[in-house]
Amino acid sequence: MKDSLFIKAAFSEKTERPPVWMMRQAGRFMPEYWEIKNKYSFLEMCKTPEIAADVTMLPVDLLGIDAAILFSDILVTGEAMGGDLSFTAGVGPKFANPVRTQADVDALETNVGDKLHYVADAIKVIQQRLNGSIPLIGFAGAPFTVMSYLVEGGSSKDFKLTKLMLHNQPELAHQLLSKIAMVTADYLNLQIAAGVNAVQIFDSWAQALSWDDYTEFSHRYIQEIISKLNRKDIPVISFCKGSSVFAPLMAKANPDVISIDWNVDLLDMKNRLPQGIAVQGNLDPHILYADKSVIKDRIHRLFERMRGQEGFIFNLGHGIMPDIPFDNVKYAIEVVKEFRY
Ligand code: CP3
Repeated sequence: MKDSLFIKAAFSEKTERPPVWMMRQAGRFMPEYWEIKNKYSFLEMCKTPEIAADVTMLPVDLLGIDAAILFSDILVTGEAMGGDLSFTAGVGPKFANPVRTQADVDALETNVGDKLHYVADAIKVIQQRLNGSIPLIGFAGAPFTVMSYLVEGGSSKDFKLTKLMLHNQPELAHQLLSKIAMVTADYLNLQIAAGVNAVQIFDSWAQALSWDDYTEFSHRYIQEIISKLNRKDIPVISFCKGSSVFAPLMAKANPDVISIDWNVDLLDMKNRLPQGIAVQGNLDPHILYADKSVIKDRIHRLFERMRGQEGFIFNLGHGIMPDIPFDNVKYAIEVVKEFRY
């Protein structure tokens, strides 16, 4: 895998074009995803290695991306710790037993490798299917983002209860975050041992935090996780929504790649980061709703800006929305793959 475009770019080595993959590339915008989803629940799909492998392979076979990402969810760590997790169409993820008191935090388990073993099994099946063609990215949620689902009991717009815990009960919040961080480091090492070629940490809701709160309640735990990873030859990607503000701090956690949202000029941001940290991003996913001429123009504009840079992985600033036309996603990937530096 060392010679793949994706791994080379992740380690800031020269490539003939930027590699491409897209967050949420295996999902609801694909008719083929629905053929599988209509037969099983989302958690059944995640927990059945053959099905997780089938879904992981959809964008590999239908879109020709340069890296596959394990089909799973960031909330499986919260479930393994004791969260009663379900996914309902139109509602999203739900934890029926939210974590709000000292007793709730104390009850969470941290020795959960056995419960997550289905992920290692899925990784082995996927690697057999990929057969060395492209790298496989494993992932986990960052402690703050996973905490927000556990505390709120599901998705939230304002993270009111989570932020209240940070502000009124910081010690309790730290206990919860420490437990999640412990589980997350073990979980990513389990994925590395099972054979993933890279890992990404998703801190989707970091942008809800002030600089000080991000530093104290998110960054610190991501740094702890990254320091524990068995990362030889395995690039570590740090993603957060809010990276246009937090990236210089994210760099201090020592990732190989930082995934950047679409609010900043990617080259300006890269130039603000230490040498040797690659950037991933940063097309506004809404561009993929637009006309093909616009899609091509915006990708080319980004590439002209990044021409001559080492350490650039093309991606979106956040995940593909479920109603983006499949054809536009396929077209965007073709535009990337035709480009040469
Ligand atoms: O990127 C990929 O294709 C790999 C698989 C993947 C999923 N979720 C599959 C999924 C990954 C990497 C995730 C990460 C994830 N999950 C994040 C971080 C990424 C981001 O976008 O910021 C978050 C915040 C979650 C939590 C979560 N899981 C949400 C908010 C939802 C959607 C709820 C809704 O109904 O809109 C999920 C469910 C989910 N995860 C689906 C998929 C394909 C949809 C399930 C379905 O078919 O109903």
